Amino acid sequence: MKRSMIAGIGMYVPKNVITNNDLTRYMDTSDEWIQERTGIQERRYADREGETTTTMGIAAATMAIENAGLQPTDIDFIIFATLSPDYYFPGCGVLVQRELKMREIGALDIRNQCSGFVYAISVADQFIKTGMYKNILVIGSEKHSFGLDMSTRGRNVSVIFGDGAGAVVLKATDSDRGIMSTHLHSDGESAEILAMYNPGTHANRWGNYADFNDAEIADMFMSHQMVDNAQLFPNMDGQAVFKKAVVKFPEVIGEALAANGLQPADIDMLVPHQANLRISQMVQKMLKLPDEKVYNNIQRYGNTTAASVPLALYEAWNEGKIKEGDIVCLAAFGSGFTWASALIRW
Ligand code: COA
Repeated sequence: MKRSMIAGIGMYVPKNVITNNDLTRYMDTSDEWIQERTGIQERRYADREGETTTTMGIAAATMAIENAGLQPTDIDFIIFATLSPDYYFPGCGVLVQRELKMREIGALDIRNQCSGFVYAISVADQFIKTGMYKNILVIGSEKHSFGLDMSTRGRNVSVIFGDGAGAVVLKATDSDRGIMSTHLHSDGESAEILAMYNPGTHANRWGNYADFNDAEIADMFMSHQMVDNAQLFPNMDGQAVFKKAVVKFPEVIGEALAANGLQPADIDMLVPHQANLRISQMVQKMLKLPDEKVYNNIQRYGNTTAASVPLALYEAWNEGKIKEGDIVCLAAFGSGFTWASALIRW
């Protein structure tokens, strides 16, 4: 059976650097609080001149395709992971197809938030293993800066998130390099603990719009009540997320190792989703991994959700910290809750 290997990788972050001190202009917070609780020093925000989730994704994708030695027309399938799409629909995948002038290939958007990229890698891997596609472009991109509550009310969420994009090209190979296994999980019991409820059909329970005037219909989509109650912004119980994450990260990494007859010491590089530096450090401690085997860049970019794993993977690779033959473990946990891992022989 074919395997899928990462043939090319790319990243993009906006130029606009927002430090913790910059945030104190909008909300009651401090550099000390943010660094102590999350490890974040700064993040990037998209510029105001048309930079979107898709444009950032395209920049990362272009680099990944070039690194793979391919042209956009060589790609057989697009998978785009994001929770901050340009449009409510259609998804960002078709916009990539259009802008990169690709063939009329399939395009799939994945909405799995922080684990979206690892889920996307898993989906791509299945298509390649079955022989259906040879070259798949997988993108994770987010423009969080558009939808954060920048007042003190939203500070527990807003200080964490940043914008950026990462991408890989997965390619069919007959070698023993590439993705060894992927492992996907969910538990919807606490779906509302880390969620953005609107715009969503949960609130639009009136049915027939013909019975309402324009103002009433507008109110169903975005009412003053929603704005006043911060219902148009992400909602998070940070402590509940933290507690679950520090259990599920090691669990799903252990599952990937067990599936391949390996031990934590066999990992050459762990690239965890950059949720919070304290979460990564606790996971590192539980797995007894030395510092050089865990890659973190949350200090510079914050939590970029679906982009965080490919951004960190790109930088680890670009800094020469991942070499051919290394065992690389990707792991993610986030809203849903959903969590996932992928083990790769580089
Ligand atoms: N600046 C200053 N103070 C803040 C703040 C901010 N940005 N955000 C919250 N606070 C305050 C709270 O209001 C609270 O004040 P109080 O004690 O007067 O009520 C205090 O800090 C402690 O809040 P708490 O929520 O208990 O802090 P915490 O230690 O749990 O840290 C998080 C908050 C969000 C940093 C932490 O819970 C976390 O990182 N959780 C995981 C989140 C995550 O990874 N999300 C993404 C998942 S993919």
